[in-house]
Amino acid sequence: MSLLRESIHGQWSSRWAFILAATGSAVGLGNIWKFPYIAGENGGGAFVIVYLLCIVAIGVPIMIAEVMIGRHGRQSPINTMRSIAIGEGKSSYWQILGWSGVLAGFLILSYYSVIAGWGLAYIFRSGSGVFDGVTSDGAASIFNGLVGSPESLIAWHSVFMLMTMMVVSRGVRGGLEKAVRYLMPTLFVLLIVLVGYAMNSGAFDQGVKFLFAADFSKISANSVLIAMGHAFFTLSLGMGAIMVYGSYLPKDTSIAKTAFIVAGADTVVALMAGLAIFPIVFANQLEPGAGPGLIFQTLPIAFGHMPGGAFFGTLFFILLVFAAWTSSISLIEPAVAWLVENKNMSRQRACFWTGLATWFMGLGTVFSFNIWSDVKFFDKTFFDLLDYLTSNIMLPLGGLAIAVFAAWTMNTVTTRSELAMVNERSFKLWRFLVRYVTPVAVIIVFLNVVGLLDFT
Ligand code: PFF
Repeated sequence: MSLLRESIHGQWSSRWAFILAATGSAVGLGNIWKFPYIAGENGGGAFVIVYLLCIVAIGVPIMIAEVMIGRHGRQSPINTMRSIAIGEGKSSYWQILGWSGVLAGFLILSYYSVIAGWGLAYIFRSGSGVFDGVTSDGAASIFNGLVGSPESLIAWHSVFMLMTMMVVSRGVRGGLEKAVRYLMPTLFVLLIVLVGYAMNSGAFDQGVKFLFAADFSKISANSVLIAMGHAFFTLSLGMGAIMVYGSYLPKDTSIAKTAFIVAGADTVVALMAGLAIFPIVFANQLEPGAGPGLIFQTLPIAFGHMPGGAFFGTLFFILLVFAAWTSSISLIEPAVAWLVENKNMSRQRACFWTGLATWFMGLGTVFSFNIWSDVKFFDKTFFDLLDYLTSNIMLPLGGLAIAVFAAWTMNTVTTRSELAMVNERSFKLWRFLVRYVTPVAVIIVFLNVVGLLDFT
């Protein structure tokens, strides 16, 4: 039996509303901005295969676990973890998982908003026609001009934070649900247009080969671990975002089917982004390992040379920002839900304070691209450090705790009834994956990240 029949924050209007919202959370900068550049930095094919394996063997089972825990607890992740643990006669320390999720969401959003701000800036750059006939050097200098200016980055970061807090303050149905309904399908269509352009770029084969031909000699143990960390990031797992969305899910929805749809859509978008970007990279003799600026330096070349490019470019960056927007609202939702539940705050007030704190934190990322670009911690800029800490440490650790909680701490009768899987075999397979496969895999990631295990 569920602890509460319905969350005090409301409920999705239907299963599809949840699927759209969860897909909105999953599909974001991670798919379109981050996946191509880390695939590029890690040699392509073999990395992509490991990433896909991680999605199937670790991501989907954890997503099922997270949604199930959320729907069973029906509160913010912190309170959900505490009340389920107490209900099962286990330690209330499990709520620490909720806290680390709130912290991870805050840290991720602080840099996510700055990158989304690049997208905002690019909407206007495309619209003004500066990409017309642009060369690769020209595209690079437009990008460097933007990230070199703290004022512009702060301005766009502020706009994006305001957009995020505006939607979150309107709550589950009013805000979150409406935002995703039309945007996701449009993004998908535009990606098809871009892949179509890439097909005619003259280097499509090379792009496809880079993305899918698995040359395992190119991959290091470290890239395997980055692929795994990215599986968490891209599916929004390990920090309670999917859990809090699950807490707004109606009781009679099949969780497993839903998780497959969300993970499938997320993967398709990432692969399409890769298929759109790498042919352009090769056709223009660009460097696949160019780093975080990759899409901002490649796609403008495509837009600058296609008919109607200013229009498509503007539309693309609008949709990129929307994809980021539907993810950013889920990054902050666990914190806001907790403040509303525990501090008796209105949603608006909770949004104001969390938004303000995140905005301040984001300044660190802004400066790491310009005035602090030489300030290094463990050989990483502030932005690199945040990304590393969240994707490679906090999310995998959160995922590990979720797996252990769902498979070892919660009782089987509860999980079986909450999941209501069509057959016992699927339930057993899920349980096996979260009991053994996920924890072992994540422990390997983690040990490597903290340097206790060195495979290289
Ligand atoms: N999944 C999002 C993306 O791929 O852009 C990022 C993200 C959202 C990570 C929400 C974690 C999260 F909780």
